[in-house]
Amino acid sequence: MNGKYIVMGGNRLVGKISVGGAKNSVLPIMAAALLAEGKTTIENVPYLSDVEVMKEVLRHAGAVVEHKHRRLEVEADKIQTSEIPETLTRKLRASNLVMGALLARMGKANVAYPGGCSIGSRPLDLHLKGLQLLGAEIKEKGGFIQVRASQLVGADIHLDFPSVGATENLMLAAVLAKGTTVIRNAAKEPEIVDLQNFLNAMGAHVRGAGVGTIVVKGVKSLRGTKHEVIPDRIEVATYMIASAITQGDVSITNAIPEHVEPVIAKLRETGAEVIVERDTIRVCGPSSLKSVNIKTLPYPGFPTDVQPQMMTLLTISQGASMVTETIFENRFKHAAELRRMGADITLEGRVALIKGVPRLSGAFVEATDLRAGVALVLAGLVAEGITVVENISHILRGYECIDRKLNQLGAKIVCVET
Ligand code: EPZ
Repeated sequence: MNGKYIVMGGNRLVGKISVGGAKNSVLPIMAAALLAEGKTTIENVPYLSDVEVMKEVLRHAGAVVEHKHRRLEVEADKIQTSEIPETLTRKLRASNLVMGALLARMGKANVAYPGGCSIGSRPLDLHLKGLQLLGAEIKEKGGFIQVRASQLVGADIHLDFPSVGATENLMLAAVLAKGTTVIRNAAKEPEIVDLQNFLNAMGAHVRGAGVGTIVVKGVKSLRGTKHEVIPDRIEVATYMIASAITQGDVSITNAIPEHVEPVIAKLRETGAEVIVERDTIRVCGPSSLKSVNIKTLPYPGFPTDVQPQMMTLLTISQGASMVTETIFENRFKHAAELRRMGADITLEGRVALIKGVPRLSGAFVEATDLRAGVALVLAGLVAEGITVVENISHILRGYECIDRKLNQLGAKIVCVET
């Protein structure tokens, strides 16, 4: 579905809100479900367009997939094909995560190159280098990546960069390999830990997720299991910033505070009050926000997926702020749109200099990717007048009913489908 959000600015957000299951945990776990013989049940699966595409990918491979009341059931007994066409990989880069799973299960995978997206070229070199070390033969032909291995064999892999996707793909390939695999300089995101827990519940033997070196002891086969996905820390962070920016008072009731520690620290630096009580995070926005500097880093550093939303907050903070984006080479597309609303942002490569302005003004703006899009919705909440955010299909990839949730807190957003 595409369309636009019409956002009336000027309302404080007040109240309680809960978030859904983590998109970036559900997607690799759905790929991992292809490894199991028997039925897998995944709880807390949100209704997002990225999840819809991943369901298409699993069904294309031959799995039976049901999704009711946020419960996803995957029956992967009969996997018929290991070929994932471009029509699907183009829609969802994360579909490349099935490469490791299909290679482990079928001994081959043929996945169309997912291509870049608006935030960067998104290469797969680290994934492929690791699969090669596990004994896969790799051919890139006609826009497809063909990987083959009659038997994957455990290897000692060092990732040049702690890539989330490469870590996940290699975990999925290694769980059925012969012998032990070590993945060094692995990503430490909470979604990696969630994937490890899911794989172990299926009978795998994975240790070390979250601390940087992952050790996988290959097993013969994996069985279906039940698993509940962790809450979405990026959604939590987004609503925290929504409260801070509108001088609001919002409590997010099903968070895991340690997953958003860098965001809590940064919001406190801006003058917001953040009160943490078990799984509830309450954010009270100050009457005026202080400028802060942000540098995105792999977890547990400040998350790149929260950089656009934080930039919106900094456009109306007192003084000058600097945002350094170290993860993606092109993740400032939202800056031009924020400028149309009166923001004062200067870009120099991977650094953005933001000078706070007293107020933003409503304008017609366009979502260019998921997090840039939501950053524009946050800007609309505080802008003078009406902001129209076009191309909201990007936002629906990662936020379930964000207009309804924000309106519940006092926002005034109308969704117009086109
Ligand atoms: C995951 O993407 C997330 N997506 C992204 O979230 C997130 O921004 C990113 O991790 C970083 O945290 C999912 O989990 C589905 P990477 P992924 O591999 O795995 C370079 C969102 O908004 N790289 O850690 O693609 C790459 O170009 C999305 O929810 C290589 O050079 O991220 C990038 O610059 C956006 N070679 C950097 O590493 C490779 O083989 C981080 O990429 C792989 C990656």
